[in-house]
Amino acid sequence: MTLPLVIDTDPGIDDSLALTLAARSRDRSLAAVSVTYGNTTLDRAVRNARLVLARARSSAAPLQVFAGAERPLQRPLVTAKETHGPEGLGDHEPPPAPPVTATATALLEAVRVAGEPVVLVTLGPLTNLALALRHDPALLRSRVTRHVAMGGNIAAAGNSGGLAEFNVWCDPEAAAEVFAAELGGGTELVGLDVTRRLVITAAAVEKLARHPDPDARWYGRLLGFYVRFHQSQEGLAGAVINDPLAVALALEPAWGRAEALRLAVDRAAATGRGETRVGRPSDPGVRVYRDVDLGAVHDWLLGELFGPWLTRSDFLP
Ligand code: RIB
Ligand code: CA
Repeated sequence: MTLPLVIDTDPGIDDSLALTLAARSRDRSLAAVSVTYGNTTLDRAVRNARLVLARARSSAAPLQVFAGAERPLQRPLVTAKETHGPEGLGDHEPPPAPPVTATATALLEAVRVAGEPVVLVTLGPLTNLALALRHDPALLRSRVTRHVAMGGNIAAAGNSGGLAEFNVWCDPEAAAEVFAAELGGGTELVGLDVTRRLVITAAAVEKLARHPDPDARWYGRLLGFYVRFHQSQEGLAGAVINDPLAVALALEPAWGRAEALRLAVDRAAATGRGETRVGRPSDPGVRVYRDVDLGAVHDWLLGELFGPWLTRSDFLP
């Protein structure tokens, strides 16, 4: 019995890959999507989600996409144009984003339309989930069997100052409320400790950009911007594709090894903001992935998306 996925996302380059992979995965159905600010503004993220899902599900009925929060619970809005591009889709220049109305119940609506128990996957800041927990915790506890979040970091290099990871850094208050809820028995954190190991090489992205297949070139334009960012910021000849790993472990948790930890979120104004640290026994219980079967994930990426154009050697071992 496979449970459908509900995804909350801030597309975003790696989110776009994750949405495509979830929409195409043969043995799971992507039931609905809620959207948040994060990598880009809410209106652009909603447009990007609709555009990416239309590409991924060309023959299927359109999927419902719900517009959520346009800023964090308390903190000022900060987006990641320098990482994901001015429109959130790398080098792509999509049509202008139609205006959207931010809501506090987008994630609840997405869970409701799924109509059955789901695996909830969050790929952006946790503002939408925090708002949903404030509005109707009973519905979430009755319908969400697992919450898998791309976010956090225990021992890898951070990407948002110090050890912090962007999704938690954007809205530390939301992250703390979500972890405290211990949804599905405790959030499963797919953080930088494991996502930094999932790297597509610069040569692979160049291969996509030059490929005769226009679909391959679309991914080349999406990822080229991301590779340039990683090269300039981290000297990496490739790009870390974080969000697809959260979908992979939502679909196949056996591809990872998670450790039960008590986790505290640093809610400082500046230094330390958004860092996730092993805390005290009174801190919320989360399950932090510490290891991953990269070969299995590479095979999944190739089988569901990149297989016609790339091979295992196009990902760092
Ligand atoms: O820190 C990486 C995370 O922040 C990813 O989900 C990326 O898409 C951004 O949202
Ligand atoms: Ca994301």
